[in-house]
Amino acid sequence: MKAIIRIFALVFIIFNCLTACTNLSSKTKLYDQLGGTTGITHIVDNLLYELSSNDQVLPLFTNTDIARFRQKMIEFIGNVAGGPVLYSGDNMVRTHKGMAITPGQFNSVVEDLILAMESSGTPVAAQNHLLQLLARYYSEIISA
Ligand code: HEM
Repeated sequence: MKAIIRIFALVFIIFNCLTACTNLSSKTKLYDQLGGTTGITHIVDNLLYELSSNDQVLPLFTNTDIARFRQKMIEFIGNVAGGPVLYSGDNMVRTHKGMAITPGQFNSVVEDLILAMESSGTPVAAQNHLLQLLARYYSEIISA
């Protein structure tokens, strides 16, 4: 009888632990899943590296202040991901106005971002969540 009670107790403890762990991961903010500002900075630096060999979009960055772009991108992602971060840059329409960005160019930047997140070791669920949030800006960026 004692053995059965012990087994029940053990199953109960494992079940509670698994439930707690699942709730914890679904309640954790995307910002934290991305590693906070440190993790996001790492992702953006990897993105800059990928963009530097992306011939489809590189010509658009000829006159860009890369230090500013880097900083604003870190802020933008941190803010969109629900972090305690203020985005101090321009809105997406004004920023990309007149660049005539095509869907193909947009996709190539998204592909670079995926490579950047992979290199940073970002969990796949967090990658998908961020891509989903950024996809909301598609029409603003494409039609700007
Ligand atoms: C989800 C997609 C994108 C996001 C979240 C995004 C976000 C941003 C942000 C935050 C900035 C800095 C704004 C500022 O300086 O105030 C910026 C600048 C810029 N973006 Fe994007 N962008 C996206 C897609 C693209 C695409 C697809 C292209 C080109 C194909 C592009 C080209 C540029 C360029 C060239 C600049 C620099 C503009 C300048 O020199 O002032 N972006 N973007």
